[in-house]
Amino acid sequence: MTERHEAALRAVREGLKDETAAQRAMQVTVDLLSKHLPDYSWTGIYVLEGNELCLGPYVGKPSPHTRIPLGRGICGAAAAEKATIIVDDVNADARYLACSIDTKSEIVVPIMLDGEVLGELDIDSDRPAAFGAGDREMLEQIAGLLAPTLAAGRA
Ligand code: SME
Repeated sequence: MTERHEAALRAVREGLKDETAAQRAMQVTVDLLSKHLPDYSWTGIYVLEGNELCLGPYVGKPSPHTRIPLGRGICGAAAAEKATIIVDDVNADARYLACSIDTKSEIVVPIMLDGEVLGELDIDSDRPAAFGAGDREMLEQIAGLLAPTLAAGRA
């Protein structure tokens, strides 16, 4: 991870420390990520409800994709595969559901607890191939921090 990733992770960890409400925790996370990482042009969280991913808090332009069925789009693929997906060139990926014509690359990280998908972090960038191992590592750790709060909010 770069200094920037480390700083963003520290800020999110600090911001989530006393945050037990799922909605607030998700808002704090997207606000801090977009503040610390200038390449993140759209930063949002989807929550899994039944077989659909429902858009929660986000920073960026409004997305037409407020509900995405499992298996559709890059978001639906990551949830179905229970694995992070990085797409260097969204226009070359047939799964991609467009949100903005400026978007060039995307990373989707499932938020999971005990092997169950609760939601996911979805980040777009206007720069091609903007996401690397540092982003993946940081976002997977943040997904781990969010998971218990999302699970509790569901119970
Ligand atoms: N690009 C996503 C859809 C969500 S928007 O980027 C906000 C996808 O292909 O699943």
